[in-house]
Amino acid sequence: MNIQSEGKLQERLVAYRRHLHANPELSNEEFATTEILRTWLAESDIRIADYPLRTGLVAEVGGYRGGPIIAIRADIDALPIQEETGLPFASKVPGVMHACGHDFHTAVLLGAALLLKRRERELEGTVRLIFQPAEEKAKGASQVIASGALEGVQAVFGLHNKPNLPVGTIGIKGGPIMAAADGFVVDVEGRGSHAAVPEAGLDPIVASAHIITALQSIVSRNVSALDSAVISVTRLNSGTAWNVIADKAVFDGTLRTFSEQVRDRVRTRFEQVVVGVGAALGTKATVKWISGPPAVVNDPAWAERAAKAAESLGLTVVEPAPSPAGEDFAFYLQETPGIFFFLGTSGPQEWHHPAFDADERALSIGALFFEALAVNALRSITV
Ligand code: NI
Repeated sequence: MNIQSEGKLQERLVAYRRHLHANPELSNEEFATTEILRTWLAESDIRIADYPLRTGLVAEVGGYRGGPIIAIRADIDALPIQEETGLPFASKVPGVMHACGHDFHTAVLLGAALLLKRRERELEGTVRLIFQPAEEKAKGASQVIASGALEGVQAVFGLHNKPNLPVGTIGIKGGPIMAAADGFVVDVEGRGSHAAVPEAGLDPIVASAHIITALQSIVSRNVSALDSAVISVTRLNSGTAWNVIADKAVFDGTLRTFSEQVRDRVRTRFEQVVVGVGAALGTKATVKWISGPPAVVNDPAWAERAAKAAESLGLTVVEPAPSPAGEDFAFYLQETPGIFFFLGTSGPQEWHHPAFDADERALSIGALFFEALAVNALRSITV
């Protein structure tokens, strides 16, 4: 190992991150990314574990003294967005960009791997490093779990960069930190007619308008003031001509919630409103759900230990507001306790923006924090 100093580590992580940033790949197409990760890990003598994944990979450090297994995960995929940062290491792939900073997460995990490798013989257990594909499609976590990579793991940790937290800050909280992200598609079947003779038809556009308005009452009337939920209708399609009443309308959108209880309640009310209001206007309205990942729910005891580990490194720990975005790390936390935390990156834009960026000073901070968290976790499970 030739990581003698933090300065050297930082330099290396910047190089990794810039290479990944310039060469982004979409979900489940991360072949070159997987290959370069394999090369970089091999260069540092870090062993690759054998799990059947098409893209993404799992590596391991430690285990020389037996002990428990913990996992640290980074996501590696990019988004179908045209980059507009103007950075010298901007994406070389038209229409594809690391606009959520998964390049950053990958570099942080590589940094943690290097730091843990340096003290491998003294680790009181095994650290499994999960480079996960296809987070943006909420598919990768399930693929990793199906590969068996979470078997035997007693605690799991993951991170997301956070543009609105300053560098040097870690956002940690017990309980929900990111939302369940469900999609819906509503079909409203009416009966077409001449626009001048509406009484001969059943107008699906008027019915949709009433349904969509009534849906706005769910968050205000069926969700406690102490809980939260978001319902957004984002698309509505119907009709072919100005003088024809259409025979059907379709609208879709998303539902965000932070607990299974609220999620179930909102979904039940949603269906009642759609079917009931649709029927009141003579149409047949049905809901199709596209279930996304559940809420990311952190284990309070691990959150407390993680906060202590961050403070021991001199980092500022804040309790962040939960994000209404979704994250498939939720699936790991359904299997194994752990935490998902936010790493402050002082970014100019929020996630998924074409000018998204992250302050590279946070790279080695994230790596050092992952290292401290892993070492403390192995120790506290062993005790
Ligand atoms: Ni992301």
